[in-house]
Amino acid sequence: MSEVKKRLSTEPYKGVRDFYPDDFAVEKYIFSVWSDTCRKFGYEEYTASILEPAELYRGKTSDEIVNDQTYTFTDRGEREVTLRPEMTPTVARLIAAKRKTLYFPVRWFSLPNLFRYERPQRGRLREHYQLNADIFGVAGIDAETEIVSLAYEIMRSFGVADGNFEIRINSRKVMNYIIEHLLGQTGEEGKKTAQLIDRRAKMEKEVFEKALSEHLKEKDTLLLTLLNSKNFEEFVSHLPKVPSLEEALKEIDSLKASLEALGIMNVVFDQTLMRGFDYYSGIVFEVFDKNPANPRSLFGGGRYDNLLDLFGVEKVPTVGFGMGDVTIHDVLETYDLLPKKFPPPADIYLSAFDANFKGYVNDIAQNLRRAGVRVVVDYGAGKAGTKVANADRARVPFFALIGEAEKASGHIKVKNLETGKEALLTEDKIAEYIKS
Ligand code: HAM
Repeated sequence: MSEVKKRLSTEPYKGVRDFYPDDFAVEKYIFSVWSDTCRKFGYEEYTASILEPAELYRGKTSDEIVNDQTYTFTDRGEREVTLRPEMTPTVARLIAAKRKTLYFPVRWFSLPNLFRYERPQRGRLREHYQLNADIFGVAGIDAETEIVSLAYEIMRSFGVADGNFEIRINSRKVMNYIIEHLLGQTGEEGKKTAQLIDRRAKMEKEVFEKALSEHLKEKDTLLLTLLNSKNFEEFVSHLPKVPSLEEALKEIDSLKASLEALGIMNVVFDQTLMRGFDYYSGIVFEVFDKNPANPRSLFGGGRYDNLLDLFGVEKVPTVGFGMGDVTIHDVLETYDLLPKKFPPPADIYLSAFDANFKGYVNDIAQNLRRAGVRVVVDYGAGKAGTKVANADRARVPFFALIGEAEKASGHIKVKNLETGKEALLTEDKIAEYIKS
């Protein structure tokens, strides 16, 4: 029986992307805005492996991610390994390992690729890149102000107008107080309420209210009143005057005020914003495009003061966020803000007239590269016209054809393909000419 060879598909694995050079140029642009803006705030870049022990995510991150979305496997040494679904546990591990020697506050950023087994759809993939920026060691609202203003500056650097996006803030302290003290729920029960609130925006009104009433019985009226409040003042008016709660509410107010003092006016209070992770302990925030074409969050973050408990080291107050590349790409496309022109791959296209001049051309190319010029070499096959066309297609701005006459005279004709202008130069003058 003859074996029929099955052809392999050229498609990437479901929900991940290949980046061809043109796509990668766009991606690198997004990365450069991320890192340049972080550096403007004095953040230092770190990185780590995509592989982590599976136990890092259990217990203190998100049930949904751990149970349904992680890529976990057993390695050859019987260890359970997870492809990181987020960077926060990793950065907490890094900080915990050097807790005693780091000089706080620490300001770090990273551009990791993350893996989540999600249903691929607009704004959600199985592998995405996510800017993570976190400040460690600042307990007060100054840290939230800095982190949210960093997020805002990133949007500004991408050119997104203030009127087109919204920074939504809430406080886990406030929501936890409501769930624990006003609804009388703790442990798994409380967690379920938090998850329901978190999913509210994605559920039909009736379905949400039915689920809430089944879970909360008669207490659902209070929660619905709070969730339906039209603004912060109305929300606060339904809450008791208790010092710990008032303090948490004041944080929301102060954050909004300090951001407004920086000219950041598109901050809104959103009592339905929970953030799916268990580790958040204070202010939480997300950034949304207002255009309904892009309904998924652009940034998500908040304060998480207790994550270092996992490693048995002293706490470090921390605030940070993650911002994905997929959603911002969609937004930049929506507002026509993606750059259209990228630098060419090389400065000059040096072509040998035929294979006999390969060595000579390679020599020139080597000298030019050492002088800081980016050179593509054409080794001689093909017609002169094709070579020029190739240089043009590759968007290389200068072209030179090198053969007998050039070798004998030491003079090379360098053509600017954009203007058509030609210059006859000795080899040692080419670098200067191209750079000028
Ligand atoms: P997150 O809300 O899960 O937070 O993700 C943050 C951002 O990453 C989202 O707003 C979205 O832009 C992007 N994102 C998340 N999942 C996907 C996906 N499957 N496909 C495409 N983009 C996605 C965290 O991960 C927290 N660890 C962030 C953080 C850092 N909190 C404090 N420090």
